[in-house]
Amino acid sequence: MKKKIAILFGGQSTEHEVSRVSASSVLRNINRDKFEVRAIGITKDGKWFEYKGEIDNIEKGSWESDDNNKINNGQNILFNKEVEAVFPVLHGLYGEDGTIQGLCKLLEIPFVGPGVLSSALCMDKVYTKYVLENFGVKQADYVVVHRDKYKKNKEKLLDVIENKLNYDLFIKPSNSGSSVGITKAHNREELEMGLEKALKYDRKILVEKSINAREVEVAVLGNESPLAAVPGEIVPAKEFYDYEAKYENEASKLLIPANLTKEEQEYIKNLAVNIYKMLDCEGLSRVDFLIDKDTNEVYLNEINTIPGFTKISMYPKLWESSGKCYKELIDELIELAINRENR
Ligand SMILES: Nc1ncnc2c1ncn2[C@@H]1O[C@H](COP(=O)(O)OP(=O)(O)O)[C@@H](O)[C@H]1O
Ligand SMILES: [Mg+2]
Repeated sequence: MKKKIAILFGGQSTEHEVSRVSASSVLRNINRDKFEVRAIGITKDGKWFEYKGEIDNIEKGSWESDDNNKINNGQNILFNKEVEAVFPVLHGLYGEDGTIQGLCKLLEIPFVGPGVLSSALCMDKVYTKYVLENFGVKQADYVVVHRDKYKKNKEKLLDVIENKLNYDLFIKPSNSGSSVGITKAHNREELEMGLEKALKYDRKILVEKSINAREVEVAVLGNESPLAAVPGEIVPAKEFYDYEAKYENEASKLLIPANLTKEEQEYIKNLAVNIYKMLDCEGLSRVDFLIDKDTNEVYLNEINTIPGFTKISMYPKLWESSGKCYKELIDELIELAINRENR
């Protein structure tokens, strides 16, 4: 008997397009001998449709106008429990932030990836800081800016930031992804511009000390006994790994394994698994670090609970180089989702 699976794609976040590419890759590679797959697309304005057309149309985005293959029963598939597990291949808000996870949980349908609390926590960069600080995990120094306070007394807040942190600074909407709304500031003027920009995306902003760093990412997989694959390194084509460098600039490179000694690799893998457990992650997450080029100190940057998932994305690539191919990885993620529900 084949297992009935729903693959969710698109979604309402700024990472809608990225999700379509990740999901197309999953749809092309999932083991069809084992799984009966239904693709469910969520439009940017939150409408759910089952899509029965070509996977290429999902990748390109033309599925939305393909009325012959688009069925208005997307949510029913979940509500009527027509599937045995859900793989939300959705990035960002309303996908990676605990909301879809909560829906699946209410409906008692197993789903791939961390649960409600963990998803919400990892999506929110400010709260990730607060929690990991309590566990003593090293992170870049920061100041949190709330929209209402900023609007009331802009100059004073800029002073507070400048007193606490030296330039350069990173300004991030707390709930961001794919670098959307993130800027780097080298002076007060850029700080102010960066805050204005970030406030368009969120009412809670993280201002963070910039670290002259290498970026190392660790893929973690599992429920009770998670394991880490060999660490990878990102070499952005630009000053930092912004949206363009991530998805459009061919000169950005993934280095697998990361340029680290065996001992350093083991250290960072261990740290990644520990952080995964601290944040109550299950299923999968990619734990991203910044390693100071001058001091070699390791800082946690962020945790992605549904990381980029095309066949050539970092997360699957890291597992591939640790001996687990893309198809097997998808199998295992669905198994982990079902096992968790059976506990
Ligand atoms: N404190 C920092 N120091 C140096 N570079 C940073 C820092 N924070 C972010 N960056 C750069 O900005 C990119 C995006 O930031 P990140 O926190 O990973 O947000 P996102 O969730 O959008 O990926 C990182 O990949 C890195 O290149
Ligand atoms: Mg990132």
